[in-house]
Amino acid sequence: MGKQKKVDSKEAGLEIGLHFFKFFLKTEYLHYGYFKNLETDISNLAKAQEQYANYLLSSIPEDVKTILDVGCGSGKMAETLLEKGYKVDAVAPGNLLSNYVKEKIGDRIELFNCRFQDLVTSKKYDMVMFSESFQYIHIKDAMEGAINFTREGGYIMIADFFKTDAPGKSMLGGGHKYSEWLEVKPNFKLETIKEEDITEETAPTIDLVSQLSTEVLQPIWRVVFALAEDRFPLILKFVKWKYKKKLAKLDDKHFSGQRNGKNFKIYKKYMFYLFKKQ
Ligand SMILES: C[S@@+](CC[C@H](N)C(=O)[O-])C[C@H]1O[C@@H](n2cnc3c(N)ncnc32)[C@H](O)[C@@H]1O
Repeated sequence: MGKQKKVDSKEAGLEIGLHFFKFFLKTEYLHYGYFKNLETDISNLAKAQEQYANYLLSSIPEDVKTILDVGCGSGKMAETLLEKGYKVDAVAPGNLLSNYVKEKIGDRIELFNCRFQDLVTSKKYDMVMFSESFQYIHIKDAMEGAINFTREGGYIMIADFFKTDAPGKSMLGGGHKYSEWLEVKPNFKLETIKEEDITEETAPTIDLVSQLSTEVLQPIWRVVFALAEDRFPLILKFVKWKYKKKLAKLDDKHFSGQRNGKNFKIYKKYMFYLFKKQ
C-alpha cells in the first residue's frame, strides 16, 4: 500500500479551484453549473452554479428542517441553506477546505472534520445531502451512512455524475460506475421521490473547463516551460527525463481538448435523486 499523503491532491485541486474561481468568477461553489436557458460562456458559470444550487433547493421537501451536508466544499451550499432557514451540519475531510469553512460559517454549524465513512454522531437529520460528493465515497459506505444519519421518514439527496459503460478511453475521471449503482441501489430499500438525468444541463461545464485548459492554462504552461528551458536548461532536461510519462499524461488529459461536453455526455451520466427512508 502507498504511503498516506498528508495533503490529498484532489483536496488541493479543489482549494486551488476555489481561490481561482472566487477571484475571477466570483463564485465559491465547487459543483458543476446547471446551464438551463444559459449560453455556454465562462461569464455564465457563476450563474449556472447558482442555478444548480437552486435546482437542489427547489427539490427539498417541506418537512425538512435539518440537513447534513456531506462534503461541503467551501461551505457555500451550507451557507445558502442556512440563509433559507435550515439548520445545517456539514462533513469535510482534510484540513484545507475545512479551515476555510470554519472561518466562514464555523459558528453557525457543527462541522465534522472527517471523512463521511468515519463520522460518529448520535444526531439524526431530516435530510442527508450529497452535492457532488457521492462519487468520493464507496457506494455502500455512502448509502449505509446516509440511511443511518437520516431520521425515519427522512430523505437522502444525491446529485452527482456516474461513469457509463461506453467503450473507449475517457479523459474524464471520477464517478461510480452507473451500471454498478443500478445493481446495488435496490438493496437500500428506499422510496424514490425524484430521479432526473441532468447530464445535458451540466455538460457545458466541461466545455468551459476545456476552454480554460486549452486557452489559458496551456499557454501559461508553455511560457513557464520555455522560460525554465532558457534559464535552467539542465534542470529542465532532468525534469523532462524523470517525469516523461507524467508530463505526457498531463498533456493528454488536460490539453488534448478531449475533456469536453460531447465526451462528458458519452462517458458520464449526471443524476439527481431524492430518496425517502421508509
Ligand atoms: C466537488 S466538491 C463539492 C462541494 C460542495 N458539496 C458543493 O456542492 O459545492 C466534493 C467535496 O467532497 C468532499 N469529499 C471528498 N471525499 C469525501 C469523503 N470521504 N467524505 C466526505 N466528503 C468528501 C471534498 O472535500 C469536497 O468538499
